[in-house]
Amino acid sequence: MGQLDGKTALVTGATSGIGLASARALAAEGAYVFLTGRRADRLAEIVTEIAAESGAQRATGIQADVTDLADLDRVMAAVEQSGRGLDILFANAGIAELVPLGEITWEHYADTFNTNVGGVVFTVQKALPLLKDGSSVILCGSNVAVKAAPALSVYAATKAAVRSLGRTWAAELTGRGIRVNTIAPGPTETPGLLGLNPDEEQLRAALIATVPMNRLAKPEETAGVVTFLASDRASFMTGAEVFVDGGASQI
Ligand SMILES: NC(=O)c1ccc[n+]([C@@H]2O[C@H](COP(=O)([O-])OP(=O)(O)OC[C@H]3O[C@@H](n4cnc5c(N)ncnc54)[C@H](OP(=O)(O)O)[C@@H]3O)[C@@H](O)[C@H]2O)c1
Repeated sequence: MGQLDGKTALVTGATSGIGLASARALAAEGAYVFLTGRRADRLAEIVTEIAAESGAQRATGIQADVTDLADLDRVMAAVEQSGRGLDILFANAGIAELVPLGEITWEHYADTFNTNVGGVVFTVQKALPLLKDGSSVILCGSNVAVKAAPALSVYAATKAAVRSLGRTWAAELTGRGIRVNTIAPGPTETPGLLGLNPDEEQLRAALIATVPMNRLAKPEETAGVVTFLASDRASFMTGAEVFVDGGASQI
């Protein structure tokens, strides 16, 4: 028996990193998972991998960009047509780029806010009719929302916005028993993080120096917290910001 047997989840940005590890972990706990991302080829491979890992057809991939409202409509229509409501929504898709103050362009600002904030706002809003009473919504924040991260000011501001959205939506949705929590990962070994700087070894060393546990997180460790928040074990948690950062923001 899995912790999430019979549940249905939607994970945005599930073709890589934290979203991919979370989709795998949710399926391993018995959930049926709808996965999105912009890369259709990766989605198809992952659906096959999850089927092989869990011994059953446990996933559907839907190519979709979270900044495109028509794409989001297609995602929700596919979930609805499956006859399943949503028990779990992990609004994870996000982008980051190193841009110091002085070099911020309108394009960088707009792309980062449109994906990390707009994508979360409209994913959750469009999923709302499908979310069952008692369901769990998990937003992907970041520990940089509460800690300075040079060259990541716009990105950090998007994650502060996500954290704020999580608080207000938690308050708005208590009447339906829908829990809304935000995870705040610290540096996590994903293609998204390691692609920030062409000198990967230098980036790794600089990031590890900020973490009391003296290493980067593995995406599976973050996925474990997502799975917990998705489950009934977290039934008295809402409005929380859960740091998965090796102590980086706390110690
Ligand atoms: N890694 C870290 O250290 C860290 C720390 C704190 C927070 N986070 C947050 O964790 C989340 C996942 O990051 P990650 O590190 O796992 O990055 P990643 O490896 O780059 O994965 C990002 C995922 O988001 C998807 N995505 C990006 N833009 C999208 C769009 N417009 N529409 C749909 N999907 C989109 C990508 O899929 P496609 O390319 O297929 O579209 C990919 O699946 C992000 O919200 C990030 O800000 C990461």
